[in-house]
Amino acid sequence: MGVIRKTVLPAAGLGTRFLPATKASPKEMLPLVDKPLIQYAVEESILAGIEEFVVITGKDKRAIEDHFDSAFMLEERLKSTGKDKMLAEITKLNHASFAYIRQRQALGLGHAILCARPFVGDEAFAVILSDDVIDPDYPLLRKMISLYKKTASPVIALEEVPDDRVNRYGIVDGELADGVFEIRDLVEKPPIGRAPSNLAIIGRYILTQDVFDHLAKVKPGAGGEIQLTDALRSLAKKRPIFGIPIKGKRFDAGEKLGFLEATVELSLRSPELGPAFAEYLRKRFCTPA
Ligand code: UTP
Repeated sequence: MGVIRKTVLPAAGLGTRFLPATKASPKEMLPLVDKPLIQYAVEESILAGIEEFVVITGKDKRAIEDHFDSAFMLEERLKSTGKDKMLAEITKLNHASFAYIRQRQALGLGHAILCARPFVGDEAFAVILSDDVIDPDYPLLRKMISLYKKTASPVIALEEVPDDRVNRYGIVDGELADGVFEIRDLVEKPPIGRAPSNLAIIGRYILTQDVFDHLAKVKPGAGGEIQLTDALRSLAKKRPIFGIPIKGKRFDAGEKLGFLEATVELSLRSPELGPAFAEYLRKRFCTPA
């Protein structure tokens, strides 16, 4: 118990909410400002002290492997033309290690995580869903790891969602004490009006290795997919599971509106682009017609 050494990055989904962009290229490679979604997940993980990645990929996802590989010719060109800042930017993740596993069929998030079992072994591990973009200044994963270290139990990130959106998420039932939610039960996409709370599970998890036995047993649930929430529900009957309600902003960049919101927010925060972009927005919205 103790250290979390690996992050699993499920990236084998079909990305249907982002068609046609995701017909032949991975949703996880869509760029937010100037970095693909999955790079935000990798950087977030490294900031929390985890530098080993298990990426679950599928058909048409080769661009992810290429992105995290060295780009010898490009690096040489940047070196010889003195573009040191850019060189540093494209090599800064070269120390991290990546393993790739193919999920042969997109049978659901739970099934994708089960595919990581041989690589994760007997350790607790983190899971990040790249299309859930968390405020890069909010140390969510670090908080989750520190709660895991205290409790030796799975920890899930939660976000309060409006009552009319509970049917889009896994929702938890339980008690909140001192900023930590003790989870009694979980339900995937409950109908509006029948949810046990409005605390939704979002794409950050610290999972213990016993989750794999539960994942191996769950039957297809909502949408005909093997749902992680169903495995956690069965796990919650055996051991405590905790939730941390997030305070920072989160964007669902797996759907078009959330992606646009994240783009605006992160562009405004960029030291390079922020002032000019803010000026553009001011002109666009504040100039009388
Ligand atoms: P989503 O629910 O966002 O599904 O998956 P999706 O297929 O990517 O997108 P839509 O809903 O069709 O638009 C959440 C995360 O789980 C991964 C996805 O890649 C995403 O990171 N996933 C999902 C898998 O790796 N395998 C699956 O079978 C399903």
